[in-house]
Amino acid sequence: MPATKTITTPSLRGVNLVKTYGDGDARRTTLHEVTIDLFPGQLVLLMGPSGSGKSTLLAVLSGLLEPDSGQVLAEDDGRLLDVWHLTPKQREEYRRRNTGFIFQGYNLFPALTARQQLEIVLKWGSGASSGDARNRSEEMLSKLGLLKNKNKKPALMSGGEKQRVAIGRALVKNPNFVFADEPTSALDWENGEKVIELLRDAAHERKASILVVSHDHRILPFVDVYYHLEDGHLERRPLPQH
Ligand SMILES: Nc1ncnc2c1ncn2[C@@H]1O[C@H](COP(=O)(O)OP(=O)(O)OP(=O)(O)O)[C@@H](O)[C@H]1O
Ligand SMILES: [Mg+2]
Repeated sequence: MPATKTITTPSLRGVNLVKTYGDGDARRTTLHEVTIDLFPGQLVLLMGPSGSGKSTLLAVLSGLLEPDSGQVLAEDDGRLLDVWHLTPKQREEYRRRNTGFIFQGYNLFPALTARQQLEIVLKWGSGASSGDARNRSEEMLSKLGLLKNKNKKPALMSGGEKQRVAIGRALVKNPNFVFADEPTSALDWENGEKVIELLRDAAHERKASILVVSHDHRILPFVDVYYHLEDGHLERRPLPQH
């Protein structure tokens, strides 16, 4: 059972977010005034049909894709930042310090080995020393059952291995906010469960806010909050009783 918490202040708020794509007749509204609060210590699941706007919402909340209107307010070191009113440089700095993103398509660097994909985040993202980056990267790869793949480049990895490297890369720097776009889609349930447990631990133990997009109902028992997005409209749904 998810732990009961008494949390009052959201760490990240999306307020009345609107996003349209295209021009003229091709103009389509993908997010209709979506409002969502993420709290520290919570693993939040976002479900919804293909094309409903899930990846778009993650991109807007994480500071990657500018909304047409609405605000993203994020807590950063005791301050509240209006993410889309920062300069691009400030936003990049905020993202580097606070966010981890697991992309639907993995987005690994082809030329780097599994371990280097993680090390680069620690060295260039948080200024870790080479030794520290290596140790922390290997520790994370080990949690993901990937230590034997540490010297492999993406071209030689299976889809599930690439997906787990992408998850390790997002989690290794212990970010406050993690956005995970279908992080278990290429995994069997044994590995999928491991990944969800890692995400849940990051939320419950480190008080990170974690938003996971998934189509997999087996994740439901692990999450604290469940949202459904359909045609760009967001609705909070009760968690099934176990
Ligand atoms: N860059 C873009 N330009 C134009 N339309 C886009 C763009 N990105 C997404 N869309 C459209 O916006 C809608 C929502 O897309 P989005 O990728 O957010 O959906 P999703 O819920 O993540 O779907 P899936 O479950 O298939 O990943 C879709 O109709 C998609 O075609
Ligand atoms: Mg998507």
